[in-house]
Amino acid sequence: MPPITTASLIQMKEQGEKIAVLTSYDASFTSLLEDAGIDVILVGDSLGMVIQGQESTLPVDVEDMVYHTRCVARGRRNSLLIADMPFMSYSSAELALKTAGHLMKDGGAHMVKLEGGATQLETVRQLTSNGIPVCAHLGLLPQSVHKLGGYRVQGRDDESARIMKEDAMALEAAGAQMLVLECVPTDLAAEISRELTIPVIGIGAGAGCDGQVLVLYDMLGITPGKPAKFVKNFLRHTHSVAEAVSAYVKDVKAGTFPAAEHSFE
Ligand code: KIV
Repeated sequence: MPPITTASLIQMKEQGEKIAVLTSYDASFTSLLEDAGIDVILVGDSLGMVIQGQESTLPVDVEDMVYHTRCVARGRRNSLLIADMPFMSYSSAELALKTAGHLMKDGGAHMVKLEGGATQLETVRQLTSNGIPVCAHLGLLPQSVHKLGGYRVQGRDDESARIMKEDAMALEAAGAQMLVLECVPTDLAAEISRELTIPVIGIGAGAGCDGQVLVLYDMLGITPGKPAKFVKNFLRHTHSVAEAVSAYVKDVKAGTFPAAEHSFE
């Protein structure tokens, strides 16, 4: 199978083929995700919560991300590998270049992800003009949880929806090659997905996005605590982790996940 690239993801969007994305943090799970035909693997800074047991993603540092990205890269075969830039590791364009370079050169990432809209445009321009592919992230921004006042659906009123649409367009124009939308009403996420030429990957953003992402431990039902509304436990009706991941890929490709019960109005 040919490797997934930023070009093949755009082609998938154009052809209406849904993109299946999961997080991974180590080589063994990555190999299993590859066997199931995952398109994109995200080494999310969610590792702070599901691997390190932290209360938020804020304490994760660049060396944590490089270490886990390197582990994942050893198990990767065809998927595109994205690594999160952790909190405060891209607070200036100069620092972002240093962090992204480390994640790509020493971790083996193909693309880096950062959170934020208008404030990140210059950073996105700098990264992409230096040959670093960028995945942007709008909606609920976990690194801004204290500013947002909690993990809440974003873009529900007209003004915040307008700003999110403008930010999405501006990020694409600045060179971002993928966008994650987290906890965004279904209709707004679908509209943004239609407007953009780059793939839009949703998490709690409804079935109208070009692809879906979940935190691996959430979709296996092993994250402690009450699962978020947008999470489906794929292990519950299967017999193994491999079967659960295959069921996720199949449901994303078929457009049957997420259902209305996993989405927001
Ligand atoms: O860190 C992460 O796992 C993420 C996903 C929730 C998109 O950013």
